[in-house]
Amino acid sequence: MKKPVGIGIIGCGTISPAYLKASKSFPILDIRGLADANPETAQRRADEFGLRAVTVQELLADPEIEIVVNLTIPKVHVEVGLAAVTAGKHVHSEKPLGITTAEARPLLEAAAARALRVGCAPDTFLGGAHQTCRKLVDDGAIGQPVGGTAFFMCPGHERWHPAPAFYYLEGGGPMLDMGPYYITDLVNLLGPVAQVAGMASTPRATRTITSQPLAGTSIPVEIPTHVSGTLHFVSGAVVSITMSFDVPKHRHLPLELYGTEGALIVPDPNFFGGQIERAEPGGDWQPVPTEHAYADGNYRILGVADMAHAIRENRPHRASGDLAFHVLEVMEAFNRSSESGAFIAIGSRPERPAPLDIHGL
Ligand SMILES: NC(=O)c1ccc[n+]([C@@H]2O[C@H](COP(=O)([O-])OP(=O)(O)OC[C@H]3O[C@@H](n4cnc5c(N)ncnc54)[C@H](O)[C@@H]3O)[C@@H](O)[C@H]2O)c1
Repeated sequence: MKKPVGIGIIGCGTISPAYLKASKSFPILDIRGLADANPETAQRRADEFGLRAVTVQELLADPEIEIVVNLTIPKVHVEVGLAAVTAGKHVHSEKPLGITTAEARPLLEAAAARALRVGCAPDTFLGGAHQTCRKLVDDGAIGQPVGGTAFFMCPGHERWHPAPAFYYLEGGGPMLDMGPYYITDLVNLLGPVAQVAGMASTPRATRTITSQPLAGTSIPVEIPTHVSGTLHFVSGAVVSITMSFDVPKHRHLPLELYGTEGALIVPDPNFFGGQIERAEPGGDWQPVPTEHAYADGNYRILGVADMAHAIRENRPHRASGDLAFHVLEVMEAFNRSSESGAFIAIGSRPERPAPLDIHGL
C-alpha cells in the first residue's frame, strides 16, 4: 500500500460534493482541508463530509498537503493554481486550465521550474467506457479513423445552476464549459489536433435566470453562446463539433467516430460509463461491453487519484496540464477562426495519455 497523498481543496461550491463523494473510492487520497473565498461555504461543506475547513492561506501553508485541487470558477483557475505552485504544491484544476492560453502558459512554466505537476479536468476520458473505446480504436476496431461528430447543445445553464452568471462572461460559454469533455476525449482517442476552422455567434445580449435562488435576474452575455466548426487532427481525421447554449432540443448523439472499417458510438464524455456501440460498413449497430474499470458511477476525482499514484510511482499522470493546454488552445481557436475567417494552426502537441489498465489504477 502506497503512502496516501495529502489533498487540499480550494473552492467548495456546486461541483465539490462530486469530488468529495468520489474520493472515497481512492484510498491514495487523504483529504486534509477544504477552503473557499467564502469561509461559510467551506465550513458547510466540511460539516457535510466530516472534514476540516481552513483558510486558503492555512491550506497552502500545510506541509502535509501535496496536491491542491482547484474547484474555483474558471476566471481564477490560473491565479489559484499559481498560488498553489508558489506554495510548493502540485495542482489539479477544474476545467478549463485557464480562460486563455496566454494566462495558462505561465502556470505550466512556473510548475515546470519547480518540478511540480499540473493536472486538469476533465478526467472522464479515464472512465471505463472511454478507455474501452480507446482500446477499440487502438486495436483497429474501426480501421483508420476518418471523421466523427461531437455535439453538446442545450438551452443554457441558467435553468439549473444556482449562480450561472459566470457561464456568460469571459471564461464561460459552451466551448470553454463543455468543449473540454469532448475535445479531451477526442484527443485521447485520435491524438492531437493540427488545425481548427470555427464560427461563433451570440444570438442574445442578455439571458434571464430561471433557476433558484436568482430566478428573474437578467445577466449580460459577453461571449459567443453558439460555436460550431471542424477539428482537423494530426492523424488526418476530421471531426465536426457544435457546442451551444442556444439549442432548445435536438437528436444528435454526443460523440460518433467513423473509420475505414467501422463506426463507433462513444458514450457521453461528460460521464465515465455509458453504452458503446459499433457497426461495420452497412451493418447494424451492435452493443460493445465496457471492459475497463470506472464505468459504474461518478469518479470525478480519478484524475487526481492518477496524479497521486503517479507521484508515488514517479511516472507521468494522464489528465495533464500539457493535455489541458492543448485542449484550451483548440477551444480558443474557434473564436479566433470565427473572427478572422482563417483556419487556425494548433502549435501544441501533447503526448496521448497512456491507456489505463483494464482493472484501473
Ligand atoms: N457545476 C457543475 O456541474 C460543474 C461540473 C463540472 C465542472 N465544473 C467546473 O467546476 C468549477 C466550479 O464550478 P461550480 O459550479 O462548483 O462553481 P460555484 O460557483 O458553485 O463554486 C465555486 C466556488 O469557488 C469559490 N471561489 C471563487 N473564487 C475563489 C478564489 N479566488 N479563492 C477561493 N475560492 C474561490 C466560490 O466562493 C465558490 O464557492 C468550474 O470550473 C466549472 O467549470 C462544474
